Order: sequence, then structure tokens, then C-alpha cells
Amino acid sequence: MSISTERAAWGSRLGFIFAAVGSAVGLGAIWKFPYVMGQNGGGAFLLVYFGCVMLIGIALLLAEMLLGRMSQRTATSAFRVLKGGAWPIVGMFQVLALYIIVSFYVVVGGWTLAYLVSALGGSVIPDSSDQAAGRFTAVISNPTQAIAYTLGFLALTAAVVIGGVEKGIERFSKFLMPALFILMLILMARVLTLPNAIEGLLYYITPDFSKITGQVLIDALGLTFFSLSLGCGMIVAYGSYLTQSHRLVSTSLWVALLASLSGLMAALIILPAVFAFGMNPNEGPGLTFITMPVIFGQMPFGDVFAVAFFALLLFAALTSAVSLLEGIVGYCMDDWRWSRAKASWLICAAVFALSIPNALSFGVWSAPLLGDKTFFDIMDYVAVNILMPAGGFAVAVFIGWVIWPKVRIELAEECNPLWQQVFRWICAVLAPVVIAVIWYTNL
Ligand code: PFF
Repeated sequence: MSISTERAAWGSRLGFIFAAVGSAVGLGAIWKFPYVMGQNGGGAFLLVYFGCVMLIGIALLLAEMLLGRMSQRTATSAFRVLKGGAWPIVGMFQVLALYIIVSFYVVVGGWTLAYLVSALGGSVIPDSSDQAAGRFTAVISNPTQAIAYTLGFLALTAAVVIGGVEKGIERFSKFLMPALFILMLILMARVLTLPNAIEGLLYYITPDFSKITGQVLIDALGLTFFSLSLGCGMIVAYGSYLTQSHRLVSTSLWVALLASLSGLMAALIILPAVFAFGMNPNEGPGLTFITMPVIFGQMPFGDVFAVAFFALLLFAALTSAVSLLEGIVGYCMDDWRWSRAKASWLICAAVFALSIPNALSFGVWSAPLLGDKTFFDIMDYVAVNILMPAGGFAVAVFIGWVIWPKVRIELAEECNPLWQQVFRWICAVLAPVVIAVIWYTNL
């Protein structure tokens, strides 16, 4: 389904699940999950992440879908239709989060494009892990190249949004997303049979509770929101195209399961490999891009696997980037009455402008700006660790306290009274408390 001004509806239940999973599964799972887990010491982080997904992630997915379906509107106007007052301001912050995220997402999308190009040229497999690291630095630190690939990825995303061909993309995603899962299973089998990989695996998944610091908590919370596309109005926008016949509870469970599972699988490929190759898990945002080519070097037909992997990753990244851009375009169309074309062009220009300092953060502008954080790190931190959880906090309070009587009626058919109460309790108390406590530990 393409999102347009008239209120269309998702053709089928599966169509919506695929679109939501397409948005959720992307660079977050394969690029972000392994390096954030590597930076935070592994098992303990994983435990906190899954705790956050189970305790608040699934409920917030449901909350955002309900907000969209009940209002039949996107972020700001959803709050306006259901309550009004100052609530629409929450939606504006959510759109700001989308804007910041998409402007660094296209940079990493650009790296993926660069790696696909070099895989197609047969030059992605390195002789050593040092060479892999050197190549990554060469790709990202060259300003012309970094900006050109960022622009290339943004142009692909824009072409889908402006051309309104989401329907076509969705049709492809029915084949390509399962293909990505299967490829990841093959990669996992290869990596786990490398010498020392199992020790690496055990090292990473054994929880060491002494490692749970404030930083681990906030990174796990941020990754929960990022990997499930929560807290930024995106699920609300997709939910606004749902009809009463859709089962929201099971959809939330599917999205949460597939998104967190794909992150876990990526981590189970990258981190044991890092261990087996004697590399550094604390590498930061380059970890996946440095490690994967070394893994392909250990496989028969490594070149072919490399092309398949980067092509599928590019596709997964594209479906997520399209949803990010759609979220902002939908807001401008709903609230400012802009045409799709005007909104798409102006927003792409604004995204490109902000993507430049992000792209240059790994080369000419790599000097830290705040503490040890570069421009890219700051954007990532503000959007993922602050704005998204803040958006989730507001949605939880809104559903749990402000419009609960309406929500209960909406849920009556799908959920028995006990689960309704559990859901309310999570929204009204648990989610706000968890988010507040994690923020507090980081002050
Ligand atoms: N969940 C996406 C990923 O993990 O790659 C990123 C994302 C997409 C976040 C869409 C937010 C969003 F609205």
C-alpha cells in the first residue's frame, strides 16, 4: 500500500506485518546491534535489551498502533484528534527524531552501498583483518566518497517515496526479507564452526551482572526503541492505515519477535567472528563492515555471499529509510497541507544538509565536539537514547492515563479483561517508570 492523502487501508493483515517488519528490520539489527552489544560487554547487555523488549517494547508497539488506528491520523494530528491541548507537541518531537535518525541512517546506508559496489567488483574480501579495518577507514574518511554514497542512498530512498512505489517494494520484501534471514542462518553456521568461535559466543552471551552500568541500561533502552522503530510516530503513521479487522496484539508480537531476533542473529555472527579473528569488539560503528568481509574470506564462494549479503542489507536498510522519510513526509502533508512532491523534495534537501556533517564525522570532522562524541555520535545519542524513549514515555502516559477509557473499548474484542489490565499497567506505570529510572541513572 502506498501512503497517500486519502485514507487507504492495508490490503491484508500480512501486508501490514511485512511493512512494519520491513521498517523495523534494517541497519539497526545488522549494523547497530552487534557493535552496541560489543561496546557494552555482551551478555548482560543482551539481558537488559530483551528485558526492555518484553516489558515495554511489545506494549508500546501495540500502544502506537492503537493510537494510529483510533485516530486514523499520523503523529501530531493523532494526538490532536484524540485529545488536543499540548499533546500534539509530542508528535513534533517525534518528527524531529525521525529527521535526525534519517540523516545519519543515510550515511550508514551509503557505506552499505559502497560495500555492495566493491563486492560486485570482486574486491571486498581482504587479506587480513587489519586490511579490512584499513579499507573501512578509507571508505568512510574520504569526504567526497562518503558524501557521494550518502547521496546515492538518499536518492534511492527518495525515488521510492517520490515515485510512490512502496507497493512494489513491499512485494519484493516478501521474498527478500526471508532471504536475508536464511543468509544470516548460513553465515551463523559458518562463523560458529570457526576455531575459537564458541568460546567467543560463550564469552558474549554469559551475563556478567557487574557489567550492568548506567551506560548499558541507556544503550539497551535506546536500542529497543531503535530496533522496533518505536517512539518516533512511525508505527502510529502505519497504524493509521489499519482497519478494525486487523489483530494488533499478534502483530505487535510478530514485529517485536522478528526485529529482536534478527539483531540477535547478527550479533551471533559478528561477535564470535570478532573473537575468532582476534579483532576488537569495541570497534564502534564500523564493526559489522570490518568483520563481514573477513568472514566471507573464510567461505567457499565468499565473493558471491558478499554480494548477496550487501545487496540484501541494502534492501533492508532501504525499507527502513523509506519508512523514516514517509513519517516526515506524511506529517508535512497532514499538518501543513503540502503536496507529496513538495514535501518529499524539501525534506530530502533538509535530510541531505544534515547528513553531510554526519558523513564527515568519520573523516575531516572526526574531532570530538562534546566529551568524546563526534557530531554523528551526538545525533545518534540525542535521537536514539533521548528523543525516542521520550516519545515512548509520552505515548505510554497518553494511552495509560489520558485516553484509557477509549482504548479499553477499542481493545475489548481482541483482549480479555486481564490482558487489558496488564497492558494498561505497563503503559500507565511500568514503561514510564523504567524509562525514568534509566534516564535518572544517566544524569
Ligand atoms: N528500526 C530501524 C532499524 O533497526 O534499522 C530503524 C528505524 C526505522 C527507526 C524507522 C525508526 C523508524 F521510524
